[in-house]
Amino acid sequence: MCGIVGYVGPKATLDVLLGGLRRLEYRGYDSAGVSVIGAHGLETRKKAGKLDNLVAEIAAHPMSESHIGIGHTRWATHGAPTDGNAHPHLGGPTQKLSLIHNGIIENFAELKAELLAEGAKFASETDSEVAAHLIAREYEATGDLPTAFANVVNRLHGAFTILVIHEDQPDVVMAARRNAPLVIGLGEGENFLGSDVAAFVEFTKRAISVGQDQIVILRADSVEVRTFDGHPVTPEEFTVDWDASAASKGGWSSFMAKEIADQPQAVADTLMGRIDSDGLVRLTEVEGLDLGLVMNLDRLIIVACGTAAYAGDIAKYAIEKWARIPVSVELSHEFRYRDPIITPNTLVVAISQSGETMDTLMATRYAKEKGAKVLAICNTQGATLARESDAVIYTHAGPEVAVASTKALTAQITAGYLLALLLGQMRQSLPAAELMALGQELLKMPARVTRVIEELEPAKELGREFANAKSVLFLGRNVGFPVAMEGALKLKELAYIHAEGFAAGELKHGPIALIEEGQPVIVIVPSPREADSLQPKVISNIQEIRARGAKVIAIAEEGDTQVEAYSEHVLWIPQSQSIFSPILAVIPLQAFAMELSTAKGLDVDQPRNLAKSVTVE
Ligand code: F6R
Repeated sequence: MCGIVGYVGPKATLDVLLGGLRRLEYRGYDSAGVSVIGAHGLETRKKAGKLDNLVAEIAAHPMSESHIGIGHTRWATHGAPTDGNAHPHLGGPTQKLSLIHNGIIENFAELKAELLAEGAKFASETDSEVAAHLIAREYEATGDLPTAFANVVNRLHGAFTILVIHEDQPDVVMAARRNAPLVIGLGEGENFLGSDVAAFVEFTKRAISVGQDQIVILRADSVEVRTFDGHPVTPEEFTVDWDASAASKGGWSSFMAKEIADQPQAVADTLMGRIDSDGLVRLTEVEGLDLGLVMNLDRLIIVACGTAAYAGDIAKYAIEKWARIPVSVELSHEFRYRDPIITPNTLVVAISQSGETMDTLMATRYAKEKGAKVLAICNTQGATLARESDAVIYTHAGPEVAVASTKALTAQITAGYLLALLLGQMRQSLPAAELMALGQELLKMPARVTRVIEELEPAKELGREFANAKSVLFLGRNVGFPVAMEGALKLKELAYIHAEGFAAGELKHGPIALIEEGQPVIVIVPSPREADSLQPKVISNIQEIRARGAKVIAIAEEGDTQVEAYSEHVLWIPQSQSIFSPILAVIPLQAFAMELSTAKGLDVDQPRNLAKSVTVE
């Protein structure tokens, strides 16, 4: 939610800011704006709508050359997405201060009343503008920007990353962070700020993740970090392992198309160095967790939202089967509001691509308060979730820019399998040879994912064929159930049509009433090759819905000789053990949703009303 970028250094600032915003646009695209300080003082341009509108505005009203500036791309919270509500906001009667903000200032009403009583004039309906006026006023009183800035951020409640520049102090960007993300990029004679490292990865791989309630004083040749109460902080530097080119479209029609195609690499990179050739999992990252805890675990709770929660559902099957630990999967935003049972032997696993989803952060903080250890599965280095967890398994999907999650999901599912195998190994819940055979099978998945990617055309063709569908239903059983849920979510968010995923066994308990002549239903068919295969049951479910007029599209394993007779269309996936099949089965559903949305003329990378990283509750 809201992308933030700041720069000070010798480069053409506007290029750095607009490039950073382009890479952060997935965080919000309701409006965008920049401020720079040049020969004519502070200059600001901002515009409702996508970043291209801002670029056109700057082309129409060029800005001066500058070596310091801030930029913002907004996902609206307070105030509609208009030019006036776009950031930056100017502060004080002299309008020499410019501020950008990500988050929500909860006590803005009382602060605004205070300012109004003094005669302040507001140009927007946002909570953010309040902070701009307060800091400008404080600067007039103290004459010192860091002091003025600290005095004000200490008065703000809620969640915020705030960046400020002031015309009278043209060599410094001030930044503060509470409950919203902020990272510093360290350059030679230049420094950067961003909501995440994608903002500056093109220029530097050296980064610092700013901690909770910390202030940054950023100059071209120095970076100073302090706590809100003024104590110096020695921050820890890390090296960004994302490749800058990974955050660009590189000739693909959309980021989503590129990220779907990136999946063999995302899965392979997430496995890399973590399973040896005989199938033994080695996850040094998890060593941060106490072995005694792992041996005595009485339950494991997975917290996550949206697509990441479906990765959690799949992990549940693997962990329960291989490590014999009871697992519950909880939507992060529901979890802490129902007084969940957490014992000292509970492990909470938080899954998040961004590592900044506020609901998931609040759930893990709650779990920690109650004494649980937290293990994160996260895709973003330096993210708050990673910092606040006891151990982290990073997924190595690289930057995911399209709002709809694709490669992050398959990487999360992969990490879930690794965790399940590791827990099984540690607890010796299955014979070692069996676990190692599973590890070896997991190592074969990247090659199978490659084959799925190479054969996506039939799924895309169906997406085009069903472009006018009003509703699509998805059915699955066992690990196919979360796949069905994910297929429906992708279609809702990308194509804005009614889509629902059901457990196939649940059909007869109500949902079958939805089936009428011509209703498209996508069915995830399990492998028929296993002794306890659920394939016959799913075939029966298909027959039940076809008898009532459904048009069935099956996702089935190559070599399933029965399924064709029962389906209008079959999308084939390579053979694998059933438990690993979600990594394969979910991909045609991503392609189907992407193509259907494209056929409707919609923007697959930036669907309406959404933002990639949901940093408000
Ligand atoms: C859907 C999607 C979302 C995210 C969810 C969690 O395509 O991307 O449902 O999965 O908002 O985001 P993270 O993983 O960043 O916590």
